[in-house]
Amino acid sequence: MFMEVFYNKELLSGYMNSINASKLSIGFVPTMGSLHLGHLSLIKKAISENNYVLVSIYVNPTQFESKLDLEKYPKDFDIDVNLLKSLNSNKLSLFIPNDHEIYGDYISKKLFDFEGLDKQMEGKYRPGHFNGVATVLMKLFEYVNPNKAYFGEKDYQQLLIVKRLVNNYKLPISVIGCPIVRDDNGLALSSRNSRLTKDNRIYASKIYRILNRVKENFETLNFFEIKSWVNNQFEMDSTIDLEYFEISEDLTLKTAHKKEKKIKYRAFIAVKISNVRLIDNIALN
Ligand code: PAJ
Repeated sequence: MFMEVFYNKELLSGYMNSINASKLSIGFVPTMGSLHLGHLSLIKKAISENNYVLVSIYVNPTQFESKLDLEKYPKDFDIDVNLLKSLNSNKLSLFIPNDHEIYGDYISKKLFDFEGLDKQMEGKYRPGHFNGVATVLMKLFEYVNPNKAYFGEKDYQQLLIVKRLVNNYKLPISVIGCPIVRDDNGLALSSRNSRLTKDNRIYASKIYRILNRVKENFETLNFFEIKSWVNNQFEMDSTIDLEYFEISEDLTLKTAHKKEKKIKYRAFIAVKISNVRLIDNIALN
């Protein structure tokens, strides 16, 4: 019952084309592996909405700006396969390409115009990151040819950028956003959490507590007051380094200065805990 594993893009494409020809729907969940319940929530949703689901596991080098970060990115292939097997679905297949399969002899990324969406937050702190993400996704979309592709709100900026990409290139793909899955203590699940010590993993729940306080105070405080309060919460903290805290319009991601009716806002945060970078966000209204 489980599961085709493809290593080769031509074999994958051939298989996907035959599914498309039978008018069966294909859901696609791209990942970088080290799977956790956040990834599984996307995969389960894809299984519930499609005849066929393709999960890719590929740690894409062009979206890492630091070689060290790329090298340290956790890779647990056997655990990943077992987790996928535990879903017990006969709809599921896996694509595990290597660098050569995706990039050929020369690993490089293309430049895209995201009309400013990539200039904020993650784009500012990880220059070139979204060009790398879009480069690999354009290739994966071409091989998989999905009807629907699933992305987590955990990487909210990435979700908006993928929607923009699909729109700009007129790809016939519905991009589906999925809610953030969290630990019991509120910490957003992330492959990077496995690099935290047990104590730091508990301590990191502070991030979500702060986001919740921001949400609670959204009606009564202005953005300046909220930002000062958040900065204060980290100023004396020797465990967590705040990289950025932003309140942004949820469609344009432009930094918000003053509340306007009808606009939806989201708070975004990036921190480092003993050199492990974590991001999170929350809808405010
Ligand atoms: P990765 O970090 O492995 O994440 C794969 C997908 O899982 C992304 O859409 C991400 O937003 C989602 N995800 C991760 N943690 C989640 C959580 N706690 N709750 C809900 N969804 C969560 O994002 C990437 O890989 C890469 O950039 C990729 C799109 C695969 C391109 O290389």
